[in-house]
Amino acid sequence: MRREILAIAAVLAGSLFLTLCRCQGADAKKPITVGFSQIGAESAWRTAETESIRSEAAKRAVNLKVSDAQQKQENQIKAIGAFIAQRVDAIILAPKVEDGWGPILKQAKAAKIPVILVDRGVNVSDESLYATLIASDFVAEGRMAGEWLAKRLSARGDVVEIQGTTGAAPAFDRKRGFEEALRKYPDMKIIKSQSGDFNRAGGKQVMEAFLKAAQGSNAKIDAVYAHNDDMALGAIQAIEEAGLKPGSDIVVVSIDGVKGAFEAMVAGKLNCSVECNPLLGPAAFDAVETILSGRPLPKKTIVKDRLFDQSTAKDVIATRQY
Ligand code: AHR
Repeated sequence: MRREILAIAAVLAGSLFLTLCRCQGADAKKPITVGFSQIGAESAWRTAETESIRSEAAKRAVNLKVSDAQQKQENQIKAIGAFIAQRVDAIILAPKVEDGWGPILKQAKAAKIPVILVDRGVNVSDESLYATLIASDFVAEGRMAGEWLAKRLSARGDVVEIQGTTGAAPAFDRKRGFEEALRKYPDMKIIKSQSGDFNRAGGKQVMEAFLKAAQGSNAKIDAVYAHNDDMALGAIQAIEEAGLKPGSDIVVVSIDGVKGAFEAMVAGKLNCSVECNPLLGPAAFDAVETILSGRPLPKKTIVKDRLFDQSTAKDVIATRQY
């Protein structure tokens, strides 16, 4: 009888062991699924960010679902709703604007799906609605651009500003940082400011209007500050078409540090670009893995950026990754 009991116990222990192994094996092999809601492809920077997220997901064998919102916040909200319905393990969100995210982030939280914000922040009253934010310090970028320009213009000059997308964190913050820097130089003024929506066509169109207005009133534009490189490249085109020399007749300063900006600096048409690193894939998936393993995450990780101008562009252009 005792022998029979021992035999039954051994069989039960063995099958329990096999079941556990099978479960662990299946879990170890099961890839995680992550939904990525991207704004669109308005700039070279944005394309580089998407590529960084895609390639990092492939490297880590993550099942990635990418949704391109075609510049519409409502599409991003729909995409997040779909990710929740599909029960993804985590969501990476690059939010177009700061406001309007509360209700959908509440749904993600209720479904216990962590949301990792990349590149831009959101305005929510409850910070627990997202797990973490990985982004550059946009105010510092604007300040760096302003300080550089003040030095270049010897603290005197009329500046036109081409802003990013209305309502977006980098548009608010880059404007704020730049204005903060200029406050120290009373002879430097922003004479006009308008949104070019972070794309090249927008930058060109706004600059054409600024040039036309300046011509009409016999004013001189000393410099243009564009919130990103794509708009600066559009502005450069408008300046050339107006028969002026970008880089010398009008000083051009922008933000991002994309390849096209380096080429324009080497060609003498763009004067300065403050880097904003879009290669956020590795940090984003580190954050996903950390949160899914139950470890704590900092609420914010600031990406370090540098400033490049014509004096350094030639030396580093070959090493640029985006
Ligand atoms: O949020 C980052 C900004 O968005 C980049 O400067 C710009 O190029 C992009 O579209």
